[in-house]
Amino acid sequence: MAKLWRLSSFGFVLFLGLALMLLPRTQGWSKEGHILTCRIAQGLLEPEAAEAVENLLPQHANGDLSSLCVWPDQIRHWYRYRWTSPLHFIDTPDDACTYDYSRDCHDPHGVKNMCVVGAIQNFTSQLLHFREGTSDRRHNMTEALLFLSHFMGDVHQPMHVGFTSDQGGNTIALRWFRHKSNLHHVWDREIVLTALKDYYEKDLDNLQEDIVGNITDGIWFDDVASWKECDDLLPCLNKYATESINIACKWAYKGVESGQTLADEYFNSRMPIVMKRIAQGGVRLAMILNKVFGESEEGFATAT
Ligand SMILES: *[C@@H]1O[C@H](CO)[C@@H](O)[C@H](O)[C@H]1NC(C)=O
Ligand SMILES: *[C@@H]1O[C@H](CO)[C@@H](O)[C@H](O)[C@H]1NC(C)=O
Ligand SMILES: *[C@@H]1O[C@H](CO)[C@@H](O)[C@H](O)[C@H]1NC(C)=O
Ligand SMILES: [Zn+2]
Repeated sequence: MAKLWRLSSFGFVLFLGLALMLLPRTQGWSKEGHILTCRIAQGLLEPEAAEAVENLLPQHANGDLSSLCVWPDQIRHWYRYRWTSPLHFIDTPDDACTYDYSRDCHDPHGVKNMCVVGAIQNFTSQLLHFREGTSDRRHNMTEALLFLSHFMGDVHQPMHVGFTSDQGGNTIALRWFRHKSNLHHVWDREIVLTALKDYYEKDLDNLQEDIVGNITDGIWFDDVASWKECDDLLPCLNKYATESINIACKWAYKGVESGQTLADEYFNSRMPIVMKRIAQGGVRLAMILNKVFGESEEGFATAT
């Protein structure tokens, strides 16, 4: 009897685990992608921003922003935070391969601004008001920082600005090498994990070091200045989302069908793109935080 009970409770736990795995829609960069984006960003902060970020982080983060960059994915299904769920992505019209804020930035019920670009704008503006001492007390600035940091990762994940009917590739079931996956997940996680396994001894520190090296004096060095060029926030965010849907069309969706197996050829040609998006997310998150918390001259004006 006891044995039977244990067996069935094991079965139940398995069922629950599977249900939880299958339930969430778009997750955003995997844990690894978000951690990398935030670590890269924190390394590029100027002293004022670095101090402000440290002060906003809760004690248990030990000053490490990346330790909480996945938090918005963990809480998005909690009742209290259900409103944040549509903020992780943008659905664009099938096959249009374009993004338009006024057309696409809304939740599934059509509520305006409830998409990843609207959210970044929202939380940046909250942090600016906080910095200027005109903060709305109802808003939690720690949460604003974590949401901003997470969503800057998401907007750079190409499949977070994908087509509506396939939910950003989530319903395109396929194989990644020998296991089952889907196109969204390939871009969220599979490519990063395969890269870690094949080239970085499964050590995130090694991958981070390689990315940072390519930013500070490697393949991306000449591009970094243009990546972080930004006078006015919203047009910049719209540019990042447009880059994502363009990459989604050209590199993610193209030639891929349900039931296919993606392997070496897909991995080798897409890995550099994923790494560049993670690097851009980090550089641009740092740019925003430096503008919000830095000495004001080059900062954004308080928009709203
Ligand atoms: C902005 O943040 C507030 C809470 O801090 C939330 O109520 C509102 O829905 C958010 N709007 C967007 C577009 O993210
Ligand atoms: C702000 O949010 C964080 C994370 O949810 C929470 O731990 C903290 O207690 C909140 N602070 C206030 C003042 O509500
Ligand atoms: C960094 O650049 C080198 C080429 O110099 C490249 O082989 C490597 O894959 C790049 N690293 C990342 C993470 O993109
Ligand atoms: Zn997310």
